[in-house]
Amino acid sequence: MAEFEVAIIGSGPAGYVGAIHAAQKGLKTCLIEKGDALGGTCLNVGCIPSKALLHASEIISALEEEGSDWGISAKGMDVNFSKMMHKKQEIIDKLTGGIDYLMKKNKVEKIIGTATFLDAKTLQVGDRVVKAERFIIATGSAPIELPFLPFDEKRILSSTGALSLTSIPKKLIVVGGGVIGLELGSFYKRLGTKVEVVEFLEKIIPEYDEDVSSVYQRILERQGIAFHLGAKVTGGEVHSKGMKVTASTKEGEKTFDADHVLVCIGRKPYAEGLGLDKAGVKVSDRGFVEVDGNFRTSVDSIFAVGDVIGGAMLAHKGSHEAICAIDHFLGKKTKMNYAAVPGVIYSSPEVASVGALEKDLKEKGVSYKVVKFPFTANSRYVAIGGKDPCFVKYLVCKETNKLFGASIIGPHAGELIGEPTLAISCGLTLDKLAHTIHAHPTFSEALHEAALGGISSFLHM
Ligand code: NAI
Repeated sequence: MAEFEVAIIGSGPAGYVGAIHAAQKGLKTCLIEKGDALGGTCLNVGCIPSKALLHASEIISALEEEGSDWGISAKGMDVNFSKMMHKKQEIIDKLTGGIDYLMKKNKVEKIIGTATFLDAKTLQVGDRVVKAERFIIATGSAPIELPFLPFDEKRILSSTGALSLTSIPKKLIVVGGGVIGLELGSFYKRLGTKVEVVEFLEKIIPEYDEDVSSVYQRILERQGIAFHLGAKVTGGEVHSKGMKVTASTKEGEKTFDADHVLVCIGRKPYAEGLGLDKAGVKVSDRGFVEVDGNFRTSVDSIFAVGDVIGGAMLAHKGSHEAICAIDHFLGKKTKMNYAAVPGVIYSSPEVASVGALEKDLKEKGVSYKVVKFPFTANSRYVAIGGKDPCFVKYLVCKETNKLFGASIIGPHAGELIGEPTLAISCGLTLDKLAHTIHAHPTFSEALHEAALGGISSFLHM
């Protein structure tokens, strides 16, 4: 008999959540990790450190941008960058230590080392041979490099390097106007860095609706971030004092000088050293592990979840896929509802969306209506001095009054998106949302208004 019923490779949010769930369901489980700490990209060099630093920098921007409106002076404010980075590391250590604790509590065996398949039922991890009935690959993703700008994490930064600089740059070029570039760009902008974003497409955050993307860009521009759209970065050069980046644009070639360039042009599946070929696991042309509806790979005993299988590269999507895979082992039919996976950008304001995009509905010829409610008509937003053209947008089925999709650009959008996510997940109609009492005064009333507007008329507009 194999030593483990489930061996999970990779301890990010997909792997460690899967390990807890499997162990709680009585399966003998091990979690294998090659990094120094559990938690994967999300906890160590992704979601958590970036949110910690964004929070710190928001303290500065709140004082600088809004302080004077409230009679508060930010004069003499001092930023100790190394203390800020130290605090970020303390937060990482606390949370990764928490995962260690959860592994012990749930009797998941932690195995440290690089896992390599010897065959479909056996892994080599350092000196140890690990046999299991089933394996789950949850090895995540890695930042994509531009061939002419290989990451050195000194001048040419991936998100990992940008989260560990030792001083505040004077000027930063961000390649890619996606989620990571805009979060990290916002962080450094608030610390006083001159930030310029060079984006290949004619819009930023392409996976959001046009109106969300354009309003968001306007707000970020007001905050001082400069955008160069329709600009494809084609070259780069490191020199003694910084970087020179070249981009081809409609107006011809442009060059940008900076202390650093941060390249955020997407992430690629990561399965280095796993020996997928030895086990016979099929991968796509782009390197994603191919799985069926139950997350089973081309090999019966091997499953895969999270970023390494593609789709939205989001921690919570990976975690839930792991739960579905484990439940499948137990004969339960827990399904992923990919129509209800929210995405959030943790800038200020936050941007969040769930479900269908308007362009997809148009392409499919689906009959839908758009309801939009501005935060400037929300009393809580006015009470905090909010001035940005933020809004809630619902895409609603004309026949059933159910939500196809929702976008929110506004304060705490990442928290607010939970309500439309639940509505989509449970197939609730706008009537149900409109008849749900929302506390006053809260930002959540903007969601209530959007639901009211969709079935009859807005109250406060
Ligand atoms: P992204 O895919 O969100 O955006 C990359 C952008 O780079 C695109 O707009 C693309 O057009 C542009 N681009 C590509 N090549 C270029 C070139 N040569 N010159 C100029 N622009 C170019 O990628 P990002 O921001 O690196 O994020 C990677 C993944 O991580 C995404 O799937 C994202 O959803 C996920 N993520 C999500 C977070 C969240 O939910 N808050 C946080 C961090 C990552």
